[in-house]
Amino acid sequence: MKTFLRAVLPIALCTFALSLTSRAQDIVVGEFASLTGSEATFGVNSSNGVELAREQIDSAGGLLNGRKIKIVLEDDQSKPGQPSAAVKKLIASDKSIAILGEIASSRSLEAAPICQAAKIPMITPGSTNPKVTTIGDYIFRVCFNDKFQGQADARFALENLKVKKVAILADVKSDYSQGLQRYFKEYFTSHGGVVAEERSYSGGGTDRDFRAQLTSLKSAQPDAIFIPGYYTEVGLIAKQARSLGIKVPLFGGDGWDSPKLAAIGGSALNGCYFTTHFSTQDPNPKVQDFVKNYQAKYKVMPDGMAPLGYDAMMILGDAIKTAGSTDADKIRDALTKVKNFEGVTGSITIDADRNASKSAVVLEVQNGAYKFATRIAP
Ligand code: PHE
Repeated sequence: MKTFLRAVLPIALCTFALSLTSRAQDIVVGEFASLTGSEATFGVNSSNGVELAREQIDSAGGLLNGRKIKIVLEDDQSKPGQPSAAVKKLIASDKSIAILGEIASSRSLEAAPICQAAKIPMITPGSTNPKVTTIGDYIFRVCFNDKFQGQADARFALENLKVKKVAILADVKSDYSQGLQRYFKEYFTSHGGVVAEERSYSGGGTDRDFRAQLTSLKSAQPDAIFIPGYYTEVGLIAKQARSLGIKVPLFGGDGWDSPKLAAIGGSALNGCYFTTHFSTQDPNPKVQDFVKNYQAKYKVMPDGMAPLGYDAMMILGDAIKTAGSTDADKIRDALTKVKNFEGVTGSITIDADRNASKSAVVLEVQNGAYKFATRIAP
């Protein structure tokens, strides 16, 4: 036994020491996402995008002289309370040098104050509510915000759908929905549109029957219905609207963007539209490359969250390079200087308020597929 130990122990110790040093060199990036729960596709697809970017950065030689990135991913289950727990763990136990997440604005708003207090940069791939980046100077986004998206939806309604009278059905439990409703209304009503009726519901799986609200929207006889919600509810709302004889187009924002939207809503969504961050039909080689690599790796087409996750990771990688360090303050400073970064979701320049100004894409739902309709520039 003694001879055996004498022979094996040094080897075991060496292997252990080696694994410790290589781990110490990995750059730890924390990510929190809704991998399960009512908005599961948001988290699954954005983290797939993050992972694809990580793989490409690592295989191109890593960062800071060959160091690899280690992503620690936490599932917040689409539930309030979980994002703050996840981010506390990612910072305190995992020692993340930066945080990626979330997609849903309410969950980014919950976690951002924790990152800000810890002075750890947080980059949200997809949270569009304007408040998110106002939490503090460590909080960034790589997507457009809802002041712009609300305006884009209003312009689409007025200029493309050519409707003047709309009704709105919004989610009272979502900061995203409340903000988008407000910014849509501001632009629409100040440019000749009329909001004939507004009703609300509770999202996140709480409400599943929307017929009372839809009945009152119907009696206002709108030309179209704006639904700034998430795909799970929107799919059900579309079905119930059609069953009540509502024939006008429904339209909304990026919260619709999920392969599950059409799976839930089916043909009830034909001829309906939503604004989002990217179209798989964009001929730009950067987009087509991404679509090809994503499909090869995951065997499905990417939705809007996937390239946002990818761009967020790529921009963080770029900032780590510029900073020449894993120091959180230096990475934060490098993030403020990102200019004309050619992302899959467009050219990204981080402005003085840590936001990105980009155009929106409008997609039309047709028999389960999402077809490029138009692009709206800021
Ligand atoms: N913008 C949405 C929010 O802030 C989330 C989202 C992003 C949804 C991208 C789809 C695509 O809550």
